[in-house]
Amino acid sequence: MKMKMAITGKGGVGKSTFSAIISRIYAEEGYKVLAVDADPDPNLALALGFPQEMINEIIPISEMKKLVAERTNSTPGAFGKMFKINPKVDDIPERYCKEYNGVRVLTMGTVDTGGTGCICPENVLLKKLTSHLILQNKDIVIMDMEAGIEHLGRGTAQGVDVFVVVVEPGIRSIQTYHHVKKLAKDIGIDKVFVVANKIKNVEDEKYVLENVGEDACLGFMYYREIVGTSDRVNQSPYDCSKETVEEVKKIKEKLEKHVIENI
Ligand SMILES: Nc1ncnc2c1ncn2[C@@H]1O[C@H](COP(=O)(O)OP(=O)(O)OP(=O)(O)O)[C@@H](O)[C@H]1O
Ligand SMILES: [Mg+2]
Repeated sequence: MKMKMAITGKGGVGKSTFSAIISRIYAEEGYKVLAVDADPDPNLALALGFPQEMINEIIPISEMKKLVAERTNSTPGAFGKMFKINPKVDDIPERYCKEYNGVRVLTMGTVDTGGTGCICPENVLLKKLTSHLILQNKDIVIMDMEAGIEHLGRGTAQGVDVFVVVVEPGIRSIQTYHHVKKLAKDIGIDKVFVVANKIKNVEDEKYVLENVGEDACLGFMYYREIVGTSDRVNQSPYDCSKETVEEVKKIKEKLEKHVIENI
C-alpha cells in the first residue's frame, strides 16, 4: 500500500497533532513513513517526539544554502542570475531527513520572497522536491501543510492522493474545509475528507456532521487536556494519549477504505 496525504486546515486546529499521530501509527505497523513539514513555521518533529538535540540540528531545506546553490548552479543570495530550473533532488529525502521512532522527517522551510511568484533557486528546489516526493516515494507520505489555503493554488500539492482537512466544531474551520474542497477540485483532487478534532460531546459531533456531511467525515478526536499538555512538556501526543491514538486508528481505517479501496 502507498498513500500520499496532505493535512490541511485552519491555524491551530490540530494538523500537526494529527499528522504526528498517524505517522507514528504507520511507522509502528512497519511502513516506511516520510513526514514532510511543509509549514514555514515548522514543528512537526516536536509533535513526533523528536528529542530536542535532534530538533536543534534540523535545518530546513530552503536554508541549506550550499545545497541550494550546488543543485541549482546558483550563487547564494544572487537574485536575477541564471540558474538551473531542473535541479537534482532524488537523493535529498534520504540524505536530509531525520529519523526517530521510525518516522523520517523532512523539513522544507520557506522562502521569504516578499511577494508571490518568485522564481528563485530556493523556490525552484522546493517545488521540484515536493513534486518528486509526491511522484517517486513509494510508501506513506504525510505532508503537514501550512495553515490556510494559499499553498493549494501554487500547485505544490498536486499529485497527492487525498487531502485531510482538520476542523474544530466551529464554523470558521469548517469554512476552510469548504474552501479546500473547492480548490482541491480545481487541481484535480476529489478526495477531500474531514477529521474533526477538539470534540467535547455528541452535540459537537452532530454539528460537524451537519456542516460537512456524513460521507466526508472520517471521524472524531476528542478534546483531551493531556494532548494539549503534551505540547507544553514537549512530548508526542502519540505517547501520552492511548484514547486519541485509538481514535486516529479508526480514522485511518476509514481513510484507507476511501482512498485505497475506493469505497
Ligand atoms: N484533541 C486535542 N485535545 C487537546 N488539545 C489539542 C488537541 N489537538 C490539538 N491540541 C492542541 O492544540 C494546539 C494546536 O495543535 P497543532 O499544533 O497540532 O495545530 P496545527 O493545526 O498544526 O497548528 P498550526 O496552524 O499552528 O500549525 C496544540 O497546543 C495542541 O496540543
Ligand atoms: Mg502545525
